[in-house]
Amino acid sequence: MAGCSGSGGSGGSSDGKIVMGFAQVGAESGWRTANTKSVQESAKSAGVELKFSDAQQKQENQIKAIRSYIQQKVDVIAFSPVVESGWDTVLNEARNAKIPVILTDRAVDSQDKSLYKTFLGSDFVEEGKKAGQWLVDQYKDGTDQVNIVQLEGTTGSAPANDRKEGFEQVVSADPRFKVIASQTGDFTRAKGKEVMEAFLKANPKIDVLYAHNDDMALGAIEAIEGAGKVPGKDIKIISVDAVHDGMQALADGKISFIVECSPLLGPQLMDLAKKVVKGEQVPDRVVTEETTFTQEQAKDALPGRKY
Ligand code: AHR
Repeated sequence: MAGCSGSGGSGGSSDGKIVMGFAQVGAESGWRTANTKSVQESAKSAGVELKFSDAQQKQENQIKAIRSYIQQKVDVIAFSPVVESGWDTVLNEARNAKIPVILTDRAVDSQDKSLYKTFLGSDFVEEGKKAGQWLVDQYKDGTDQVNIVQLEGTTGSAPANDRKEGFEQVVSADPRFKVIASQTGDFTRAKGKEVMEAFLKANPKIDVLYAHNDDMALGAIEAIEGAGKVPGKDIKIISVDAVHDGMQALADGKISFIVECSPLLGPQLMDLAKKVVKGEQVPDRVVTEETTFTQEQAKDALPGRKY
């Protein structure tokens, strides 16, 4: 496709394939590993030549990767922005080079929506609301204060901002729910454990942990067990993603509820990329379909789970 009219690239594949430059966030979580696999496998089966980079959770690395894709004159750039702000300059450079950009998984906060063609991914505010609603339903008959600690995702990232916002929108309606501590665990297991250890030392009574992803919840489970408490009983845990290890912890009763966030974005991304390169119209926003899991539902779903 490189060299065709309507496409930005002219330095791409010599065999007529679309060339996509994909700037991934990193390899911080089970979700991310599954997402990378989905993108790589889907590119292969869709006949898209993929140039892939891992930014190790650093915005400057993603910007460098995008600039290198512009220099290489790829046909389309896709990326999952590590944080929401600070993208306008590099997105303008892509636009000037006539290379279409697709946002996948995470959003940017640019006012100029013409800097990218479409945004494919979850509704993170909705995910936060689902987490909050489960909690409200669990405590509907109680009168005591419910002490919540929150493990936030990467500071400044769309999922951290939106999952926090959605959750707060729901729980703040009832004064019994108090978020007594909230800190980033950067979406990693190691940081989730470390921050939860600090939460446990500083707060003698924690009723609920809301973790913005399964990996941080899994790290926190180690911290809770290390402190001689029983996850799922002494402290209820709600998390987001529904990756295999999270679902196993849910089925084992250590996590109480998981809001699904699907990493399997590859097939839809390749479809959108082909359309965008041909100059066809695509929707501004494509929202991923997702569900939630209780402990019983996790037991049923686990055998057929792909990631
Ligand atoms: O952007 C999606 C989030 O990023 C996932 O929920 C989290 O696990 C990942 O690191």
